[in-house]
Amino acid sequence: MQAETDTALLLAALRLQLDWGAEESLADQPLDRTAAPAATGPAPGAPPEPRPARPALVRPTPAAARPAPPGAARAAELAAAAGSLEALRAAMAAFDGSPLRETATNLVFADGAPQSGLMLIGEAPGADEDRQGLPFVGASGRLLDRMLGSIGLDRARDAYITNILPFRPPGNRTPTEAEIALFLPFVLRHIALAAPRRLVLVGGVSAKALLRSREGITRLRGRWLEVMIREDEALPALATLHPAYLLRNPAAKRDAWTDLLLLKRAIEAKQGQ
Ligand code: URA
Repeated sequence: MQAETDTALLLAALRLQLDWGAEESLADQPLDRTAAPAATGPAPGAPPEPRPARPALVRPTPAAARPAPPGAARAAELAAAAGSLEALRAAMAAFDGSPLRETATNLVFADGAPQSGLMLIGEAPGADEDRQGLPFVGASGRLLDRMLGSIGLDRARDAYITNILPFRPPGNRTPTEAEIALFLPFVLRHIALAAPRRLVLVGGVSAKALLRSREGITRLRGRWLEVMIREDEALPALATLHPAYLLRNPAAKRDAWTDLLLLKRAIEAKQGQ
């Protein structure tokens, strides 16, 4: 019985590896699996090995500040006054500073486990998310769930998920800079209230907005950067490719997989401390 379960788990893991293009060599250096295993631990009498340095966090080049759109001051006021996630949800539902609220069916606030320490931030709800009032529940969301699952994370238990915009832009168009700037105070307050240890910025819109960068996602992804959530407080953030992009460009899953491995390593390093 146990052997059957183990086999099923191994087959599921193999399926995911294949989904992720892991039939190719994904590491930069070839791996000699026939080499003798490296000795573990220092030789008797040798001085202790130095702890590996933590990878340096990088601050991306900031984009020039733009004038705040109308309504941004009110959004900032409401966001600052919210003392809990529930209060923030209520403030966002009541905020009437954006026409997106009129065309959307539901406010899409968040899903998952706010206390998980990992917060994922996408772009904006699509049609499925708008209908259900939950982020990442359509085709992109299903892929995102599998991406998380491939490094052992369960969406409901190990991640807290939200978007830059809480309302669906009509026709799923890309959010405008003014819309992003308008909702940014809510997003930053959302991060402060959930207090995650790290962020994953899902896609270019999220990465550029939170890293305040003009660089594209291909330049921002693949390394730990910093998001300033207050003037004096930064959080480690990993930008990665959006699952909607991966659905259109399956070859890019290879890059997404390397990002996921970075995330997995960071989580494991924290657990090992
Ligand atoms: N794409 C996003 O960025 N967010 C969602 O919630 C759904 C699709």
